[in-house]
Amino acid sequence: MKMLIPREIAPGEKRVAVTPETARRLQAKGIDIHVESGAGEAAGFPDALYNAIGATVLPPEQLDWEGADGVLCVQAPGNDGLGRLRAGALVVGLLAPHGAEDLTHVLNARSVSSIALELLPRISRAQSMDVLSSQANIAGYKAVLLAAAELDRYVPMLMTAAGTIQPARALVLGAGVAGLQALATARRLGAVVYVSDVRPAAKEQVESLGGRFLEPPTEQERPSEQGGYATQASDAFLAAQRAQLAEQLALADMVICTAQVPGRRAPRLLTEDMLDRLRPGSVVVDLAVAQGGNCAGTVPGQTVIRSGVRLIGADALPSSVPNHASALYARNVSALMEHLIHESGELNLDLADPIVDSCLLTHAGVCRRDDVVKTEAPLIPTGSPS
Ligand code: NAI
Repeated sequence: MKMLIPREIAPGEKRVAVTPETARRLQAKGIDIHVESGAGEAAGFPDALYNAIGATVLPPEQLDWEGADGVLCVQAPGNDGLGRLRAGALVVGLLAPHGAEDLTHVLNARSVSSIALELLPRISRAQSMDVLSSQANIAGYKAVLLAAAELDRYVPMLMTAAGTIQPARALVLGAGVAGLQALATARRLGAVVYVSDVRPAAKEQVESLGGRFLEPPTEQERPSEQGGYATQASDAFLAAQRAQLAEQLALADMVICTAQVPGRRAPRLLTEDMLDRLRPGSVVVDLAVAQGGNCAGTVPGQTVIRSGVRLIGADALPSSVPNHASALYARNVSALMEHLIHESGELNLDLADPIVDSCLLTHAGVCRRDDVVKTEAPLIPTGSPS
């Protein structure tokens, strides 16, 4: 079986889907790895490292799209490459399936099968393949570093000859994968961290990491939980939650926004009026910006200064830590491929397997996830530059 690793073409994308480490793992499974020259360069994996483990490194004009059994990528390759794949070839990557009608059209025209990693089920069996978790972890970490770098204060408490500096206060909205990593990172830097989430299970997780949990408001019914995720909150609940958060804002030095509801716009937790409460010099990092944002006024990929407060629309953080983001992404992809390859060395897309059933976007000329593709907004983060 021959898999191509093309150089990523999306502007600013620095990650690569297969590292030399996972190329070796995949080769042990009988897969020939053909890497486009320079594909790993921006992530710190030069061609020589792929050559050294016996992968084939080729200039773009020699990549054999027609003869390949598939493509492993971070973001979808261009149509010129996809349009040359043979029927039955497999594309695996963060394919941004919401609203991806053009992409599925190109894939179906060639009867190419595709796996959108955003659609992997969040079940224990699929944890090793879960790119949303591995990339959200990086985003939560980097969000705090960005906030600390932009902040006009120290983060830790310091006792100096010139007097004592109080620790910075961080407010983290959402205690999922990114939020818990943001909490852990801010704690390591010495901040006092307050965390808001609507899921009851989050309280124990927050406290075990040294955070202070803000109990959700009780005057309105809190959103229920489905499969470990929060469901959409009512307008009345969000209004009560905003009133609670407004009190916290006057004390916060940094706010890290990670609250999301799968398949929905991110809840708007910080309104324009609330931003007036933040002191000039404080920083908001909005990781939910691509899903509509938790914070009013954040713009994907930009920093907006509003009355001295920095509002960072952070939609591309995993790609800003490309070496480790690629290392983890590539291990996720490798675990998925190992799951899909039969002992005979053949690819086995078993539609009865819940993992395959969830994330197989196109197969045999048919789009299998019209429910997702026909949803307009990009509701699931790709960790990719805008
Ligand atoms: P996510 O990115 O969808 O949401 C982030 C957080 O925002 C969640 O904790 C959610 O409760 C919170 N949130 C939603 N509305 C909010 C509001 N109005 N105010 C404050 N917070 C709000 O979630 P993520 O990070 O993808 O995962 C969430 C949970 O999913 C994890 O804690 C875990 O239980 C489960 N999970 C399971 C996995 C597995 O079994 N393989 C892998 C990853 C996550």
